[in-house]
Amino acid sequence: MLKGKHIILGITGGIAAYKSVSLLRLLIKAGAEVQVVITPSGKEFITPVTLSALSGKPVVSEFFTANTGEWHSHVDLGLWADAMIIAPATASTIGKMANGVADNMLVTTYLSAKSQVFVAPAMDLDMMAHPSTVANIERLRSYGNIIIEPTSGELASHLTGKGRMEEPEEIVKVIDRYFEAQCSMAGKRVLITAGPTYERLDPVRFIGNYSSGKMGYALAEEAARRGAKVTLVSGPVALKAVHPNIEVIAVESAVEMRDKCVACFADVDMAILSAAVADYAPVEVQERKIKREHDDVPVIKLKKNPDIAATLGGLKRAGQQLIGFALETDNEKANAIEKLRRKNLDKIVLNSLRDAGAGFGTDTNKVTVIDVAGKEVALPLMSKADVAVAIIDMLNV
Ligand code: C5P
Repeated sequence: MLKGKHIILGITGGIAAYKSVSLLRLLIKAGAEVQVVITPSGKEFITPVTLSALSGKPVVSEFFTANTGEWHSHVDLGLWADAMIIAPATASTIGKMANGVADNMLVTTYLSAKSQVFVAPAMDLDMMAHPSTVANIERLRSYGNIIIEPTSGELASHLTGKGRMEEPEEIVKVIDRYFEAQCSMAGKRVLITAGPTYERLDPVRFIGNYSSGKMGYALAEEAARRGAKVTLVSGPVALKAVHPNIEVIAVESAVEMRDKCVACFADVDMAILSAAVADYAPVEVQERKIKREHDDVPVIKLKKNPDIAATLGGLKRAGQQLIGFALETDNEKANAIEKLRRKNLDKIVLNSLRDAGAGFGTDTNKVTVIDVAGKEVALPLMSKADVAVAIIDMLNV
């Protein structure tokens, strides 16, 4: 998959920079065209001569060449690249990338890069565990960068722990898989629902739930990364979609969500319904704020909300896939299978509130995917981003 791809290899000043030479060789051997961008301190660890000999291109480090005045355009480089990999990424460079400190060619190029960015951190275990590093890495993830986690083992300091840069062969595999996955859903259209719904009581109050939308947004990012065009019908959440292939349609109530989903369902290849839709809505929405003065406690009469999954299940045509979620507290599997059948779904993703780390608001999830044939795949506790990868891997595309 790397043949003919334009890759920027960013090298920073860490002892793991010696491994970047192997990484460069592997990328070139796989047929990629590689432009090395190195920080000034990176050059203390590995010489530009070695890197330019292997890449067949002059190494870029400064904004211009001192004796000729030739300007190195970080903007052009950023547009040229199909991917950028920063390996090793030191704590300092990660901090600069997370905060937009563009004081060298590498970070400036990073900020200009339109393509997917991979970051392979390498540092001492205590630096790696410092809350500042952890927060900066989380920030990079939120920008859509793919973090290639360091492994544990003996470090340059002779201490043992997490901080060793992933091996070059593994890094190449991650980039290769990215390019492979990137086209696996090309041309596909996917509808995803996410977040809670809010059912209005009066101008300031609503009935809602604790759904954060994280699972649905992770699914949308993963499908978009693979080349799908995603329509994300989202209830009120504090999240932003990152990938340009995602169109977010913001809704508030279940009825609005149903209307938007029904309007685009005919045009999609699949729908993944991860929203926590409120089951009931108030019969009446008060125009003015419900006052407290009365002695009587107000009684709120509720009506049933439409079941979006079941509605789409009724509209489903041959070739379309419909995937639902079930959040259960008891009789988990039996309830999930009953929903799968009743709503005419192809698969249902079951998460139990009994599992620590699963369900609403968390960054992790533990799910079992059940299909119409009764096949079950139980996944371990993983980040919601990894659960999204696993779920999308199970779709027929
Ligand atoms: O029936 P239950 O709410 O447990 O079903 C969960 C599945 O159905 C989820 O995929 C959810 O997004 C979907 N659902 C829906 N409309 C509703 C209720 C649930 O689309 N009104």
